[in-house]
Amino acid sequence: MESTSIQLSLAPFQGITTSLFREVFTRHFEGIDKLYTAFFTGGHIRKKNTEHADLAQTHQNGIPVIPQVLSKEADEILLFGQQCSDKGFEEINWNLGCPYPRVANKGRGSGLLPHPEKVEKILDSVFPALPVRLSIKCRLGYFSPDEIQALLPVLNRFPLSEIIVHARIGKQLYEGPVDLDAFAKALPHSKHQTAYNGDIFSKDDLIKLQQQFPSVNHWMIGRGLLYDPLLAARLKNIPIPENSEANLYEFVTELYQAYRKKTEDRIAALHIMKEYWSYFSHSFAHPDQVFNQIKTCGTFADYEGKIAEIFEKVS
Ligand SMILES: Cc1cc2nc3c(=O)[nH]c(=O)nc-3n(C[C@H](O)[C@H](O)[C@H](O)COP(=O)(O)O)c2cc1C
Repeated sequence: MESTSIQLSLAPFQGITTSLFREVFTRHFEGIDKLYTAFFTGGHIRKKNTEHADLAQTHQNGIPVIPQVLSKEADEILLFGQQCSDKGFEEINWNLGCPYPRVANKGRGSGLLPHPEKVEKILDSVFPALPVRLSIKCRLGYFSPDEIQALLPVLNRFPLSEIIVHARIGKQLYEGPVDLDAFAKALPHSKHQTAYNGDIFSKDDLIKLQQQFPSVNHWMIGRGLLYDPLLAARLKNIPIPENSEANLYEFVTELYQAYRKKTEDRIAALHIMKEYWSYFSHSFAHPDQVFNQIKTCGTFADYEGKIAEIFEKVS
């Protein structure tokens, strides 16, 4: 399989893959073809989104950004689509994957998956008027991985640009293995371009998935890229610079400085960086040790000292 022709996207992570993160990340690392915002919900959609930083750019470092909406109301999805269209976006993504009980119990996100008739009603209202393309990010189901079998005939009726399947069920949250058998069973029943998401951490992972699903071309990656920002380049056989540690250091330093600027030097910048380090520490041989050093930092000076020490050890 030609790895250079594949499409790779950075999965949305609420609170992590902000517009600022996407900007700094794609300035330092190659290989990503699409970016997604984290989801927008009710209040955010109804408020005019013109000021929202996440929707300030249709492309970041030349890569298209696809805004995501989490809603069970057709009028909200339409309003969001209209706002995004006004800002120059060409596609929005509908989140049918969020597993959190406070979302799913209200029939949003993956809570809609057991109800294909509701999905159909929403799409029937949305499609005639939506001024942008619509893609869907979903799971295999909420209670059971078979739910997607009843959902796909509904999705097949509409001109979706793509569906992205995170191969878990909502009840699993982010725990337990991905269900490749259920994904394999569903794939032939989707008439849309279908992308795969879930647990891609290495070139070996991708090769195995490509062998099992040769028709899939778009692979969405979350934790794999947060752990190892060079993963997209590795998967596409793009040469990794010899001084890749220096590149990682520069990246994480610029990210930190950008958050300090954005928060006007409030301690919130440190909290955001600690959250990111809970993933990024996996770039190092002993992630737990590295993360333990960072998470106890109480001041900016403390943090900067620790980061210098950590990179000193690997250089
Ligand atoms: C903290 C956190 C926040 C997330 N936020 C979103 C989100 O806003 N929209 C979405 O579609 N998925 C969201 N996800 C799910 C990821 O995009 C992705 O589907 C999931 O992590 C599986 O992919 P991975 O195994 O490559 O990480 C989130 C996941 C986590 C852990």
